[in-house]
Amino acid sequence: MTPPIHRSMGMELVRVTEAAALACAPHMGRGDKTAADAAATDAMRAVLARVDMDGIVVIGEGEKDEAPQLYNGERVGTGKGPALDLAVDPLEGTRLLAGGRTNAVAVIAAAPRGCLWDPGASFYMDKLVVGAEARDAIDLGRTPTENLHRIADALGRPVHSLTVFVLDKPRHDGLIREIRAAGARVSLHTDGDVMGALLAVVPETGVDVLMGTGGTPEGVIAAVAVKAMGGGMEGRRDPQLEDERRALATSPAADEWGRVLSLDDLVAGEDAFFSATAVTDSPFLEGVRYDTRHSGVTTESLTIRAGSGSVRYVRGIHQLDPEHIFGDRDPGDAVEAATSG
Ligand code: FBP
Repeated sequence: MTPPIHRSMGMELVRVTEAAALACAPHMGRGDKTAADAAATDAMRAVLARVDMDGIVVIGEGEKDEAPQLYNGERVGTGKGPALDLAVDPLEGTRLLAGGRTNAVAVIAAAPRGCLWDPGASFYMDKLVVGAEARDAIDLGRTPTENLHRIADALGRPVHSLTVFVLDKPRHDGLIREIRAAGARVSLHTDGDVMGALLAVVPETGVDVLMGTGGTPEGVIAAVAVKAMGGGMEGRRDPQLEDERRALATSPAADEWGRVLSLDDLVAGEDAFFSATAVTDSPFLEGVRYDTRHSGVTTESLTIRAGSGSVRYVRGIHQLDPEHIFGDRDPGDAVEAATSG
């Protein structure tokens, strides 16, 4: 029998996302999203290797052939400890970081083996996310307008006071028109709908709802955070690519394409963990800051444990030699130094 997951796993996962954020932060605004993602992935993998768990990456950087690290099916951890499935996104918002924009974040979600939904051939998913007070009001089977009215009623506020996070993509032209016609406010973002889901579920961020289609893997990662925080989420496969449609049509999921997936479908059970460390600033987490003269490099993270519903904000101060961050020394040393404390 696999050992139970100790609550200290939450802090272990903070070290993992801190390492990824620290490693990719020097790439901010430098225009190279691939290098940034590779730095975050290397660091996340290096720190995961030291965590006592029998981990398998079920949602990672892709299939083994195209992703040298943290590929789907890769075993991580020391092999001792609980059997966990991991959904990782070492740098969520690669283009955000490369462009020096807000809301780039390093994220990881962990749950007991078999508890995370397998996206299979599905790359894109329609998502609807709200905070705890409106969790019972949402229904992807209804129109966006109906959902906005139901959410507003649940919150006891007029529709025009709602702010809806939407990815700014051509596929959302109709959705954006409909939200505007319903009278709600729209917050458009080029990327980053894991952060969008967090903004919708964390109180007082200024965002009430996430609507629209983004990555399916990102949907599963976000679902862990939403579940842990008692929020509401539904998802539905929404293929955008010809290849994706073809693969889905011949997959075991072919006859349930349009099925609405509940939070329990996306994350089974209650024993899940989620950690996020901001790389660039977001409304509730400050990005990586360098002040090596005084206190070192700072990070801000959010760690959530579904079992207890506990939410912690963790401010890390890492004593790093600037040479480690900006110089030619092996970035793995920096990760080691930053996360061993
Ligand atoms: P990356 O970090 O992999 O670049 O993903 C960013 C992101 O915006 C996700 O937040 C979102 O789910 C997905 O891409 C949307 O995909 P697309 O840009 O193809 O519409």
